[in-house]
Amino acid sequence: MSREQAKVREVGPRDGLQMVQRILSTEQKLDWCRKAAEAGIAEIEITSFVPPQVVPQFADAVDVALGAVAMGSFTPAALVPNQKGAERAFDVGVPVVNYVLSASEAHNLANVRRTTEESLSAFGAIVAMRDRAEGVRTHLGGCIATAFGCTIQGDVPEAGVLEIARRYAEMGADEIIVADTVGYGDPKQVRRILSAVVAEVAPLPVACHFHDTRGLGLANVVAALEAGVRAFDASLGGLGGCPFAPGASGNIATEDTAFLLESLGFDTGVRFEPLLALRQQLEIWLPEECFGGAIARAGLPKTFEYQR
Ligand code: COA
Ligand code: ZN
Repeated sequence: MSREQAKVREVGPRDGLQMVQRILSTEQKLDWCRKAAEAGIAEIEITSFVPPQVVPQFADAVDVALGAVAMGSFTPAALVPNQKGAERAFDVGVPVVNYVLSASEAHNLANVRRTTEESLSAFGAIVAMRDRAEGVRTHLGGCIATAFGCTIQGDVPEAGVLEIARRYAEMGADEIIVADTVGYGDPKQVRRILSAVVAEVAPLPVACHFHDTRGLGLANVVAALEAGVRAFDASLGGLGGCPFAPGASGNIATEDTAFLLESLGFDTGVRFEPLLALRQQLEIWLPEECFGGAIARAGLPKTFEYQR
């Protein structure tokens, strides 16, 4: 019997690396992508088109993007915080471009030096730029960061999150990504907000981006599944965090997220052996980083194949 699909999108080469001090080479980043694709990951956020002085790790964004597009074994996605970033991503032909703004006004100002409204308006210009371009149509994701609360501002009103989702959809986003940048979300809140966002933007797909800062990352995945979400960002070994959000820490771990989804009966396409081998490789490349996640520590249960 065929199982329902759920997507785990590797964001390690972007979110995972943006707070890491050690600069990985372009070849290492591309090797990460190649091996993740070989392990069954279908979509990878490969880089971020930000100024090199803001995040030096992404000074090679163009080369990583060109290499990833040439590989052809997975769908490369890139994060952009403004029009200039989108222009750079379009120029190299990245097929998926995720635009980020924060529902928290304070975090948006700290992260991209614009008000949330200014960032939202700029998205309209990015859609227009995409629509003018010839060739394959770029898929534009609209990401809502700090959707569940903010370490700078505290409370983030849910009505604002819904309004941003509605306006993204109205302006021409192909997908909405709801992000818990600082790990403030809990399952009850996730179920409530995601149910509302899914209903608001239907039939547009909605994805979730969780950080496991307070240990609720995978519980929040279950809550989002209940609200109809079927795509989740995650980072191998749980690396990650926003350098402009105080107290931010790692994403949910790719391998644990895939294990959870498979255990619930979803088909992720992920093969654990090569994925865990890649994680070991990352630990060698990034010896200063603290890797998290349970599956790499404990191994898969003997009963796992039976559950599939
Ligand atoms: N890529 C490369 N260069 C860029 C750029 C981009 N995406 N956006 C702006 N620039 C350049 C401009 O061309 C300009 O260059 P110049 O001085 O040679 O003319 C310079 O940077 C300043 O441009 P400006 O539009 O004034 O940007 P800013 O200083 O207000 O910074 C952002 C705004 C969005 C670029 C910056 O805050 C940023 O990169 N934020 C993202 C932070 C992040 O990565 N967070 C984690 C992910 S959520
Ligand atoms: Zn993140």
